[in-house]
Amino acid sequence: MKIKIAPSILAADFTRLGEEIKLVEKAGADLLHLDIMDGHFVPNISFGPPVVSAIRSVTSLYLEAHLMILNPDKFIPAFAEAGVERIIIHAEDIPDFPRTLNHIQDLGLKAGISIKPRTSLDTILPHLALLDTILFMTVEPGFGGQAFMPQVLSKIRAGSDFIARHDYQIDIGVDGGIEPGTASQVISAGANLLIAGTAIFGNPNKFEAISRLRNPG
Ligand code: DX5
Ligand code: ZN
Repeated sequence: MKIKIAPSILAADFTRLGEEIKLVEKAGADLLHLDIMDGHFVPNISFGPPVVSAIRSVTSLYLEAHLMILNPDKFIPAFAEAGVERIIIHAEDIPDFPRTLNHIQDLGLKAGISIKPRTSLDTILPHLALLDTILFMTVEPGFGGQAFMPQVLSKIRAGSDFIARHDYQIDIGVDGGIEPGTASQVISAGANLLIAGTAIFGNPNKFEAISRLRNPG
């Protein structure tokens, strides 16, 4: 599948968020990754639907909301209203996968599931037919700028092999500590959707940052 690069705006300069988004859009970003944190599911708070609506108003990029929140069902309509195209929920907080995934899809959005580094792949395999994306966390969720966890590579490979065997058309995403060195490892393991915050927004040359992730060499 085509390699897609998704800047995570958590690492952007929030004093000039609109400019930062235009820079990554011009530099070839395939979509934007919006980290939504509630201070309960993860020990950090980020931003919510009002900021997402503002982002929607300044870019035509595809927007995916990564919901690191408790009780995501309650907020899915608000993020749909704010203009995201895809909502990724966490497997660790979903009592009824089909109900929540259908809730997302009934609103016309694509649905994805994310699993933390220590969560088993078996948690999501029964639901792949409902998914557009699976997102492997390669750090403990909650903060940008953390070190990549290489122990997740075997899980990415197992997931990629399973998806290939069953011929599902699913983006295999990775999120956390992705930079050119780790990008080559996750692409070899089968990932095609690379989320990066620090590696992109920490580099003044956005074009170089994005192309080095897409072609890590
Ligand atoms: C962490 C977020 C990631 C994070 C990635 O909970 O889900 O998207 O912002 O940031 P970097 O690329 O800096 O590790
Ligand atoms: Zn994320």
